[in-house]
Amino acid sequence: MSIKIIGTGSALPQKTVTNYDLMELVDTSDEWIKERTGIGSRHISTGETLVSLTAEACGKALENAGREAAEVELLLVATCSPERGIPCAACQVQSAIGAKQAVAFDLNAACAGFLFALNTAYAYVESGIYKNALVAGGEVLSKIVDWTDRGTCILFGDGAGAVYVEKSDNGGVLGFVQHSDGTRGDVLKCDSRALKNPYVDQPMETEYVQMDGREVFAFAVRQVPASILEVLSKTGNSVEDIDLFVLHQANKRIIEGIAKRLSINLDRFPVNLDRVGNMSSAAIPVLLDELNRAGRLKAGMKLVLSGFGAGLTYGACVMEW
Ligand code: COA
Repeated sequence: MSIKIIGTGSALPQKTVTNYDLMELVDTSDEWIKERTGIGSRHISTGETLVSLTAEACGKALENAGREAAEVELLLVATCSPERGIPCAACQVQSAIGAKQAVAFDLNAACAGFLFALNTAYAYVESGIYKNALVAGGEVLSKIVDWTDRGTCILFGDGAGAVYVEKSDNGGVLGFVQHSDGTRGDVLKCDSRALKNPYVDQPMETEYVQMDGREVFAFAVRQVPASILEVLSKTGNSVEDIDLFVLHQANKRIIEGIAKRLSINLDRFPVNLDRVGNMSSAAIPVLLDELNRAGRLKAGMKLVLSGFGAGLTYGACVMEW
């Protein structure tokens, strides 16, 4: 018994921001950004919210699956950029799409968030607690990025993706691995609201996203291949058995480094980061939706999904489409 993805959906803000547009904000160039990251443009919100984007992605995933919002039993939203602390984004999405029956809550594991949420849905659905789940990853990172910092503002984009899953006797998720290393949390971080109450003498100022790019790069190129090999071994597969490696879309050089370490041809690593940048927990479900709608995912194909990011968190899953 397992769970299977029955439908996918995604939503991106209307505004596209190119590297040339960023050259008007910070001292950078299209050449530098493309060479170091592979990113050419990204979608940036001019009013779309995490909730509006995620609700749109969820609606499309349900439509793609041929299911109604009222049937959804579990609604998980992975995000690290919610508009509100309370209520959680998942409850706002639940209200927006009319998923009246659903139990809804958020999950934050940064760029591994969608994968961790999918594994959470797997645990609930596979164990029989719920019959189905809508699992979304959504971000409006543009509100937590310092637009004067050329080291980070060039990397990120806004968007949301979602999948609808049901219990399945035939294929679906074959296995998961997940890891967290909180001792290395400082290499990629962003403050929430600071402690500012009447009893604090010197309230701290909050900071936007701060990153040690080289450390993050080294972590991803080392740990991601290891976790992919771990999940392949756990599920009795080898790299040759896998048709597509759907990785978190952080950086083209990271994906190239991972492919090289695994001795796998790059054409088995689909990429959309050139058009959307790094959308954290939205990256994997948006890419999955693009592949699904382009007809690139055929029944019986084996996929590896792999997410990694702040925390540090990372994980991988093998699934049969
Ligand atoms: N345009 C032009 N120059 C830039 C720049 C930009 N956007 N950003 C940084 N630079 C400069 C730096 O100031 C530095 O200049 P200096 O040598 O005069 O000090 C030089 O480029 C090299 O900086 P460095 O940070 O060492 O570059 P790098 O080769 O490590 O590339 C990243 C920077 C961010 C592209 C790279 O580290 C990376 O991709 N890391 C992973 C980030 C990531 O994916 N994070 C999310 C994971 S979920």
